[in-house]
Amino acid sequence: MNAALRAVVRAGYYYDFEVLGCHSGFHGLIAKDLFTIKAADVANTIQRGGTIIKTDRCEDFFQEKIRAECASFLSAQGINHMVVIGGDGSFRGAALLRQQGGPNVIGIPATIDNDIIGTSYAIGFDTAANTALAAIDRVRDTASSHDRCFLVEVMGRESGFLALEVGIAGGAGMILTPEFPISVKQIVNTITQQQRQKLSNIIVVAEASSHPGRSIHIAHEIKQQTNLDFRVCILGHTQRGGSPTALDRKIASQMGVLAVESLTANKSDQMTAINNGNLGLVDFPPADNLGRRLENKDMLTLNSILSR
Ligand code: F6P
Repeated sequence: MNAALRAVVRAGYYYDFEVLGCHSGFHGLIAKDLFTIKAADVANTIQRGGTIIKTDRCEDFFQEKIRAECASFLSAQGINHMVVIGGDGSFRGAALLRQQGGPNVIGIPATIDNDIIGTSYAIGFDTAANTALAAIDRVRDTASSHDRCFLVEVMGRESGFLALEVGIAGGAGMILTPEFPISVKQIVNTITQQQRQKLSNIIVVAEASSHPGRSIHIAHEIKQQTNLDFRVCILGHTQRGGSPTALDRKIASQMGVLAVESLTANKSDQMTAINNGNLGLVDFPPADNLGRRLENKDMLTLNSILSR
């Protein structure tokens, strides 16, 4: 997110805006805690993970009265353009704000789940995937040295894009995604009926719930059914930090500049997006959308071929 913020700030001054920000997303706006971000304030941040102005989900912002107060405040401050860096919930709130007299808004998709409808890429995904992959490679060192089996749990509550990316790249024996659930029985059949009896094995598991840890249950069930020991490694929030990859820095920079240029053209209620490899603007996801999901099992089938 820092790379995107840097691009928005730098492009903002390039196009003669004054740029202000608020801490922790809409929480800062509700608190009327706006502050000027100067071009120099985002120096030496492109390589930093996270965001220097913090971020958070904000349930309060879905209260119409609170949004109306924010819209009045922004109007009184002469603020009529806004960039929101976040997920579709943030975009939904910003669109509702504009309907109540709030500023024009352009969104920059940012979530490691990469599950925002309308774009094939959300910033943070490549960095999270490579962070998880580095961990999986380390687990593989010990698994192959000790002839051990592991369940490595990655983030992704409803979507399996992260699990699929790191599972394929990490050479996983199996990939468990929320979209295509696999029973423990099926897991057991796969690991016991493989042509080549593996001395070590790494199964990548998407957390597939609002709380991490389902891999512990799966390991217990496998032990019950096969007496095989699967150790569990839950990567958790390590996937949400670390210096962003070149790809994320580049796409975040491009999206930040496009967001500001779109505001100069008086566009609103749209987000920067990558589709068919091209950067552009698309409408915000529909308010009732449930997010992007793996559409088919093609890549899971590919992995089953590669993991034999
Ligand atoms: O939505 C992105 C995400 O990173 C999920 O993959 C993960 O399950 C969740 O956020 C964690 O949320 P929190 O930081 O509130 O625990």
